[in-house]
Amino acid sequence: MLDIVKIGDEVLRGKCTEVTEFDEAFRILLDAMFETLEEAEGLGLAAPQVGVDQRFFIVSLPDGIKKEFINPEITGTSVETEPYEEGCLSIPGVYHEVERPSKVIISAQDAYGVPFTLKAAGLLARVIQHEYDHLNGVLFIDHLDEEEKARVVKEYEKRNKKGKRHN
Ligand code: NI
Repeated sequence: MLDIVKIGDEVLRGKCTEVTEFDEAFRILLDAMFETLEEAEGLGLAAPQVGVDQRFFIVSLPDGIKKEFINPEITGTSVETEPYEEGCLSIPGVYHEVERPSKVIISAQDAYGVPFTLKAAGLLARVIQHEYDHLNGVLFIDHLDEEEKARVVKEYEKRNKKGKRHN
């Protein structure tokens, strides 16, 4: 299990750098991330969330889709958008609807550096966009208006304090 970095940590706000080493150590890190994601019962996990400032993320959906996206580029988005209630393992316990394109086209590399392109819709498109944002230091709350964002952050801080008291 890796520690998941929480909001307030600088690593969540930086722009990540390209992955250049597709070696065994990198694949061991990916495996550890998949285990961490499973344990946390999340749908996606980006490298900065485990303190690594490099451009990759993983996705693991209830329908069985399990995939790593290394050096990803979203090359197309649908004009059509839709709302969906998002959460984030780095801002645990709070959720808010975010409007995003319904479909995306993404090009990336797999764990061995082999390039691929895929078209995603539904939950996969949603998670891809959320995780991709993490690589540029963007969190889902940044898509809300200032008032809503402040409210969600306040709620998180309140919950966080409560949690600590019970420990
Ligand atoms: Ni997140």
